[in-house]
Amino acid sequence: MSTPVWQRDDVQVDADVMAFLAGADIVLDREFIRHDIRASQAHAEGLARIGILDAGELAAISRELDALDAALIDGSFVLDERFEDGHSAIEAWLSERLGETGRRIHTGRSRNDQVLVATRLWLKDRLATLYRHCRDIAGVALELAARHAQVPMPGYTHLQRAVVSSLGHWHAAWAEAFIDNAVRARDTFAWLDANPLGTAAGYGVNLPLDREHSTRALGFARLQLNPAYAQLSRGKFELAAIEALAMAVLDLRRLAWDLSLFTTAEFGFVRMPARYSTGSSIMPNKRNPDVVELMRASYASVAAARTELEQLLSLPSGYQRDLQPGKGALVHGFGRGLQALALLPGMLADLDWDSARLRAAIEPSMYATDLAIELARDGVAFRDAYRQVADAVSQMAAGDPPPALAERSPEASITARVSPGACAALGLDKLTDRLAALPAHLPQCIADQD
Ligand code: ARG
Repeated sequence: MSTPVWQRDDVQVDADVMAFLAGADIVLDREFIRHDIRASQAHAEGLARIGILDAGELAAISRELDALDAALIDGSFVLDERFEDGHSAIEAWLSERLGETGRRIHTGRSRNDQVLVATRLWLKDRLATLYRHCRDIAGVALELAARHAQVPMPGYTHLQRAVVSSLGHWHAAWAEAFIDNAVRARDTFAWLDANPLGTAAGYGVNLPLDREHSTRALGFARLQLNPAYAQLSRGKFELAAIEALAMAVLDLRRLAWDLSLFTTAEFGFVRMPARYSTGSSIMPNKRNPDVVELMRASYASVAAARTELEQLLSLPSGYQRDLQPGKGALVHGFGRGLQALALLPGMLADLDWDSARLRAAIEPSMYATDLAIELARDGVAFRDAYRQVADAVSQMAAGDPPPALAERSPEASITARVSPGACAALGLDKLTDRLAALPAHLPQCIADQD
């Protein structure tokens, strides 16, 4: 490793201690360094605005920051153990190329606000991606809800056959869930859209830093004012972002559970296209739905990230190095969660539902609730109607179902389910309106590659 930026002649740097302090940090900073470069550019502009850099120096720094960004993209510069962290690497790059001008970049900033602003920009970008995936999932689920609105499907409670439902109802549920998840991502984005750059080590500096400029230049909605609060927000804001992700991945886990059940021979409701399944190394007959299993498992990574961040936050105020490993939790949690969510729109669209199997899984007892409610509608007290139908269902166990249950069809059952939101009143127009009212995308500092 090159000499740390904080090296003094009177302090010996022990290699083992340095390795422990750095941990996997330099590798993690690969994830954040492009955001750090953007923030460094805004910081340099701010320094020029208060006369710390002249126009020529600012132009040179901007040029070299762009060159570093380009070198990171084409792989000619790799962030590795030569540097203590990404922040030092940026300063080293500028100092090597620009001498004294480069050595001015750290005026009025600390790695404490540098790491804050880089992760804040990164979080906003990840939330924008989360938002996009949630909107895409909701859009696909809405289309499928309309297409399958008339397809009967058993509805379960406790995993036991309960009432007749529809495939449209199943899809509309996920559509509404992912609209809510998109809203949560958008709201969390807005909640944490505050600029910590210019708070230095957590106590400000004796310079009139142009924080309004860096706020605008970096696309933040507002300034995060108090420097001590900026430090308190590290980890707290990460946790809020992870929680927004967790909402979506929690729904994904339940959807994946449904699919792993519905694709079994026992249910046989849906066939998974071959490209989402894998074979077995020993059992030539097997096709396994590994993709849905890994989707389900992605929640574990998100929950682990959440737990790690929360545990790290047992801290007094002020900067504490404890939060450094929180970056790893974030990268892993968001990495696994977003990768899984990204696959869902395509998978939902490709599922091959077996409407005959879905229909065949509906048995006469599943009309019992419809019948009890019809009797109640016609004047019988609901509890009496319930008893009457319960008796009929008990007799059914012994022999043939009574005509009142046997002579019904799943189609009639779902057509009569008129309570708002239910099979005959899915309200897809309302969901479509909610989805359309959401912004098409949230702004990104560094756009996704895909
Ligand atoms: N790698 C450090 C982190 O993630 C950067 C900030 C270092 N600041 C310090 N005072 N040692 O927290």
